[in-house]
Order: sequence, then structure tokens, then C-alpha cells
Amino acid sequence: MSDDTVLDLRLAGGACPVHIGTDLLPRAGALIAPLLRQARAFLVVDANLLATPHPGRLQRTLEEAGIGVETLTIAAGEASKSFAGLEALVEALLERGIERRSTILALGGGVTGDLAGFAAAILLRGVDYLQIPTTLLAQVDSAVGGKTGINSRRGKNLVGAFKQPRAVIVDTAVLDTLPARELRAGYAEIVKYGCIRDAEFFAWLEAHGRELIRGDAGARRHAIRRSLEIKAEIVARDEREESGERALLNFGHTFAHAYEALAGYGSRLLHGEAVAIGMIAAARLSARLGLASEDDALRLRRHLEEIGLPVSLHERGLTFTPEALLARMRHDKKVTAGRLRFVLWRGIGEALLTEAVPEDMLHELLAAE
Ligand code: GLY
Repeated sequence: MSDDTVLDLRLAGGACPVHIGTDLLPRAGALIAPLLRQARAFLVVDANLLATPHPGRLQRTLEEAGIGVETLTIAAGEASKSFAGLEALVEALLERGIERRSTILALGGGVTGDLAGFAAAILLRGVDYLQIPTTLLAQVDSAVGGKTGINSRRGKNLVGAFKQPRAVIVDTAVLDTLPARELRAGYAEIVKYGCIRDAEFFAWLEAHGRELIRGDAGARRHAIRRSLEIKAEIVARDEREESGERALLNFGHTFAHAYEALAGYGSRLLHGEAVAIGMIAAARLSARLGLASEDDALRLRRHLEEIGLPVSLHERGLTFTPEALLARMRHDKKVTAGRLRFVLWRGIGEALLTEAVPEDMLHELLAAE
């Protein structure tokens, strides 16, 4: 218990404590009860989680804390993050009698958190919600920072709202039930924090990342804590992604979103895997532009390879033309006044935002993928 930490994320709309610990879930009732405005919570879980002990454990600790729980299940997978999925969830919550003072608890990965958070943002003009992420990707990224939303036919996350959770509860023990491939994919986002802000953390990951993948609880707590410290610091300064600082969290993502879209958002290429390949592309582009040394790009590639992440599209049997990739990149939310913006780096630990990427250089890089 003494290994628990709380990060104090302070934002314009109030505080959002982020609790990090091992085996937090079975004792989460005591953390959650003081945050509720009525002794009633609506637990949203994805169907895959029903095969794990997590929803039952959460329900028990909440009931022990005197909280009545209504559980709603959503279909697992990206298809739930749609207008149809939103409508089904909102109608189900209204049907069960959700009120303005009720709280939604989002237990699951990024899809559950984004969808339940968006439902909380719009239901009855806004109800409270908490994020209880169960994937590494959601723990180190999507559950923290208040981005909620669904996908449009025209692209991912194009409909949504900023809505900060009342708290985030990160239990590293729930990762034990996560498939190894998903764990590695989430790890790519941890590497991202080292890339953009903290060379020392990157070196720590080179030395200890494999322990984290193997299940070492201390390594998991440290990596998640450091990742979230970096994220919290950035989000506190640029909550609505206006100054450009929050955009740095998208290192590798302009490429990744294009790869994922062309690969069909399925199991051929998970989001974190696309981010791993995308970060290498960003590092190589930075070297071509003379912003950073090629050695740093190689070091990044070596580390991702050691972890077992894909480092090229070929490895997954994927090839896309530069034209198709460029067309997808132009759909990204990060496009401003028709110009592509890239998060590049000056080397490990120092990211920057730029629009100054000559199109022929980009084309050449994408052709070499
Ligand atoms: N995942 C990027 C952000 O939260 O801004």
C-alpha cells in the first residue's frame, strides 16, 4: 500500500487526482466514495472484461463502501465508439434512471473511457465520471487528460468533448490479465514520453522496459508514474491543445493514424504498434531534416525491437503508397490551414512541432517505408 502514489493534476475546471498503485481495484471503494455526489454509480464495462475478475471486484468494493452500482456492458472494440454505440449507451443510462448527481465509472480500455466519458459530457448537460483504465495504453495515455469522443465515418475521434474525469484510478495489477501483444502496444506510448520529454527516462526504459513487460510490479509503477507525470504537466499547461504543447503528445501519431486507417483499425496493426512505427518515421524524418542525429533514430528502433514491437509496416505484411499515406495524413485533426504539422525531435527527450517539412522529402521517406 505504501507504494501507492497520487498525482495531482490541476486544471481550470478543478482537480483530477490520478491514483497509481498495485491492487488498487479491490480497495477502490474508499477512494471513490468521497468523490460521489450520491451513493449511486453507473459502471460501464466492455464485454471482454466480463471474463476477468475486475468488474466483480470493483462492484464488491463499491458495495462495501455503501454505493449502489448499476452495470452496463458495451460491445468490445472500436465499433462501439460510434454514433450508434453512443446512442445505445446514453439511452441505456437514461433508462436505468441516471441523474445529474450520478457518476459514471468507465472500467476498460480506451474505447470504454472515450465513449463513457463522452456520454458523461453530454448526458443531462454533463454528469461526473471516473476513469478506471484496464489496458496499459489507457493507463498511460487515453484515461488521463479529458479527451473523450467517438469516431466519424471520416476519421477517428472527430466528434467529442474535453471532459475531465473526477479522478483516475490506475491499478497496475489489472495488467496481468492483458494479452501480451496489447501490453507491448501500450508500452509504445510509454516510450513516447521518454522521446518527447525525458532522455533519462528513455535510458531507464532501455535498462528496465523488459522487466515491465515481464510483469515486474515496481517497474510498471515507475514507468506509469513517470509517463503520467509528463502527461499531467503538459495537459495542465495546454488542456485544450491550443498552444501546441499538448500536440507534442502526438509524437509519431501523424504517421500512426495514417497507417492504422489504411490497415483498417483492426488486429493487423494495433494503435500502439502503429505509434511504434510512426515514432521511428518521425525520428528518421528529423534526421533527414538535420534536426537530430540518425543515431537517436537507430537507438529508438533498437529499443522498440527489443520489446517485440514492430518497427516497420513490412513486418506486418503491410505496404501503402506514399500517395495513400499522404492523403490520410491530410485528414488528421493536426492539420492547420491545410498544412500538415509534424511532431519531430531534436533527439531523445526533446520534441518540437513543425510545419516546415518539404513534401518531396516526406514522399521519399514514405516511399522507403
Ligand atoms: N493522447 C494525446 C492527448 O491526450 O493529448
